Amino acid sequence: MSYNIAIDGPAGAGKSTIAKKVAKELSCVYVDTGAMYRAMALYLLRCKVDRENPALIGEACQGAEISIEYKNGEQIVLLNGENVNAFLRTEEVGNMASVSSANPKVREKLLDLQRKLAESMNVVMDGRDIGTTILPNADVKIYLTASSLTRAKRRYLELQEKGEKCDLDEIRRDIEERDMRDMSREISPLKQAEDAVLVDSSEMTIEEVVKSILQIFREKVILSDEVGKNEG
Ligand code: CDP
Repeated sequence: MSYNIAIDGPAGAGKSTIAKKVAKELSCVYVDTGAMYRAMALYLLRCKVDRENPALIGEACQGAEISIEYKNGEQIVLLNGENVNAFLRTEEVGNMASVSSANPKVREKLLDLQRKLAESMNVVMDGRDIGTTILPNADVKIYLTASSLTRAKRRYLELQEKGEKCDLDEIRRDIEERDMRDMSREISPLKQAEDAVLVDSSEMTIEEVVKSILQIFREKVILSDEVGKNEG
């Protein structure tokens, strides 16, 4: 049985934690598309490209070749052959990713890679436009969200655990700014696909969210597969 699960939602909604766990439960592959946009942002930061200049971003991004490898179930992002995983999860890279991901040339470069991964294996793919643009025929679509305060608190704890200095109000401001940019951009804005199931995780534990997504998967994929077999 082949299937794809798309999980979209705003920054800090818990997509990557949840998607990783769902993929583990189903023994399929977790594809983190945010990491690809972050790798592109890292490249642009390293090239010192002016983030306010879309034409320069569009030109500069052509110099970045991004590919993916899996080692022991972990996604490794290669930027021009270099494993850049260790540099991706900073606020600086996240903010640049949110700006540069609005650029059509940047999106064009990553679209093919994402579709090919989903074609070649069963995936849980998370991002902003997976259910709407990348995999419009995904078997299960989840729109995972939470209040901006809850999301800011989660990001704060994540950064603190890594020993990074951070400020909750600043993180909340960044998150709200990022939401605005992601939701209002012209190309592939963040929005709930019509056939996506809304999951608001503000008052839910990680385990509860994982359980509810697995339940949706069972209803949509396993049961319909069984009905199909019985009818066929
Ligand atoms: O983990 P977090 O939600 O903060 O961010 P991420 O998923 O790593 O993505 C970083 C940025 O990349 C987002 O703010 C989006 O602007 C962009 N992105 C996108 O445009 N499309 C995707 N499929 C994934 C990420």
